[in-house]
Amino acid sequence: MRQAGARQEDAGGRILVTGAGGFVGRTVAERLGPRAIPSSRSDLDICQERQVETAIGRWRPSAVINAAAWADVERCERDPAGARRINALGPERLARVCARHGLPLVHISTDYVFGATGRDLYRLDSPPEPVNIYGATKAEGERRVLEAWPQAVVARTAWVYGSSGRGFGLRAARHLVAGRVLFAIMDRFGHPTWVVDLADRLIELAGRGHSGIHHVVNRGPTSWYRFSLRLARRLGAPDHRIAGISASALPSRVAPRPRRVVLETPATEDSDLHLAPLRHWEAAQDAFVEALRR
Ligand SMILES: NC(=O)c1ccc[n+]([C@@H]2O[C@H](COP(=O)([O-])OP(=O)(O)OC[C@H]3O[C@@H](n4cnc5c(N)ncnc54)[C@H](OP(=O)(O)O)[C@@H]3O)[C@@H](O)[C@H]2O)c1
Repeated sequence: MRQAGARQEDAGGRILVTGAGGFVGRTVAERLGPRAIPSSRSDLDICQERQVETAIGRWRPSAVINAAAWADVERCERDPAGARRINALGPERLARVCARHGLPLVHISTDYVFGATGRDLYRLDSPPEPVNIYGATKAEGERRVLEAWPQAVVARTAWVYGSSGRGFGLRAARHLVAGRVLFAIMDRFGHPTWVVDLADRLIELAGRGHSGIHHVVNRGPTSWYRFSLRLARRLGAPDHRIAGISASALPSRVAPRPRRVVLETPATEDSDLHLAPLRHWEAAQDAFVEALRR
């Protein structure tokens, strides 16, 4: 996918992107272009504090964006100790090194830190209430990062889609373009978020002055079913190609998922810096379809 140049509202300088072999990290590195220092797990293991220290000393980034994680919910449920190591202890070590160097750190987290009660709206300061191991280890990671480096940013995102990597967007578009029926869950609600909007905001947050928790999602909660129906129409496919299913129809899933997580997305008013909430999911989906066509 061709992408326009990244916005330049961050502090400037080169940014170390950890976990850049993954879906989100790769897009962040692409959006940064020559300003990226992309590192995959084989270059830099965030759990190895000495390795992180050496890398920061060698590369001298102006900020760090941490996209390294175990984001596979089922894998986390099977191996809670492994999940905790990568999602909680590794980010803490990274945060400790950033604190020693006074480096801005943006740590990516997830809406899955919530969901147990399915309340109307989760605020920035709502206490975590995860329903699975992935969410619990990510919640612990948030806490450990902010304790180790209070100037860090924790950026919670959700339901990330795009035209590469795993996830719903590309798979859905391929199904529709190939004339196949797409099964989409009707009874789960959240914030589908275009990876490009997410990446650009993470880069902005890597500038100084944005510390603390942020919700980085496209606005307006919906279901994958409604997302898919709209996507089908945009791609010229008939509605009957979208088959709505219940999440309970997916027996291969062992880990529970939240039924509904709606995140508060206030404008950011840190010091004199202002960041408007990301656009509505429908506008982001239009941009995604536009990018697919290029
Ligand atoms: N995708 C979504 O829908 C979504 C939604 C909400 C939040 N998030 C958050 O977004 C972030 C990125 O997720 P993603 O979807 O891009 O996941 P991903 O595609 O699985 O990427 C994660 C990357 O982290 C790497 N990694 C694992 N352990 C590492 C370590 N110890 N040191 C360095 N790198 C390591 C992985 O490498 P290997 O593959 O080689 O292990 C992988 O390339 C995560 O924090 C996730 O919780 C994602």
